Amino acid sequence: KSSEKGIFEHFMLKEIHEQPTVIRRIMKGYIHDSSININQSLLNDLKQSSRIYILAAGTSMHAGIVGKKIIEDLIKKPVEVHIASEFAYNTPLIDPNAFFILISQSGETADLRTCLTKLKKQDYKTLTITNVITSTLARESLYALEIFAGPEIAVASTKAYVAQIAMLFILAYALSDKAIDIQYELSKTAQAMENFLLSDSHIRDLVVKYINTKHAFYIGRGMDYATSLEAALKLKEISYIHTEGFAAGELKHGTIALIEDKTPVIAIISHESINLNTRSNLEETVSRGAIPIVITLESLKSDGDDIILEDVHPLLTPILTILPAQLIAYYASYELGYDIDKPRNLAKSVTVE
Ligand code: G6P
Repeated sequence: KSSEKGIFEHFMLKEIHEQPTVIRRIMKGYIHDSSININQSLLNDLKQSSRIYILAAGTSMHAGIVGKKIIEDLIKKPVEVHIASEFAYNTPLIDPNAFFILISQSGETADLRTCLTKLKKQDYKTLTITNVITSTLARESLYALEIFAGPEIAVASTKAYVAQIAMLFILAYALSDKAIDIQYELSKTAQAMENFLLSDSHIRDLVVKYINTKHAFYIGRGMDYATSLEAALKLKEISYIHTEGFAAGELKHGTIALIEDKTPVIAIISHESINLNTRSNLEETVSRGAIPIVITLESLKSDGDDIILEDVHPLLTPILTILPAQLIAYYASYELGYDIDKPRNLAKSVTVE
């Protein structure tokens, strides 16, 4: 049962290990004999819009940044991602032919409810992507899609994040004319996740080695930058180690000043096009004393890389590369003796602005 920990010591670890199943479950929900089962008028409205706006908060916002890249790649339509609390009161200029996607695990986040109220007054079309199909946002938006992650108990979101990305991939695929064997690609990703999760002991060893740090960085470019933001959020929210996720090429324009002797810098590298540049950015931090850690794919690996994942479809790498970061956060919090499932100052669902 999702409401019990079973063999796992914490809900977060259980939910991390559920992720391959969550991917398979969302496939069952939406893919039947390689055709996609999504409301046709939702697809038509998305097709007819000239610009898509994604609104979300926290981890769901990071899924939105990944989603922007997936949607722009598959359907060649511009996508903007906005932080819900900013959009609500500092609304940017909106394309009159806009379509809005709200992403929310709980479907109750107050910042998003404020956005939705305003959008509905102006008759914009809205879709909520959520884990709770009976939630306020799901009920009040024009369309809703359920991500089928099952109850997520740990405050730090893991399985909802990968399910949100998978949902955005399935939705974009439904609108795309690209030839992708979606069953095969998603199953392969689920299998790669499972294979990685079978042997996570080296992650714990890595964490133990570098746990005595005040600061840490995740760096990446493109999709790996989005993953870096989510990876950093995971580590800081449950281990209280100050962590920043940074665009690998932007670090040198100021923030590299924070690199001290033995600051862990974790580079995420999942695309050939950014491989060498990200590695040279990592080198720049090493020459200032940083300890480099590389998360990469089999096809891009170099001698001495720490965490190697199997290759999957290039638009699905974020579902896989986040796993080691979730485990790094989990074991860091574990080693430091914190309350992993209920970190200080945080709530699972934030219903105040
Ligand atoms: C809270 C949670 C985060 C979550 C965010 C958005 O701050 O602690 O984990 O990402 O809300 O929640 P939502 O339910 O809208 O995805």
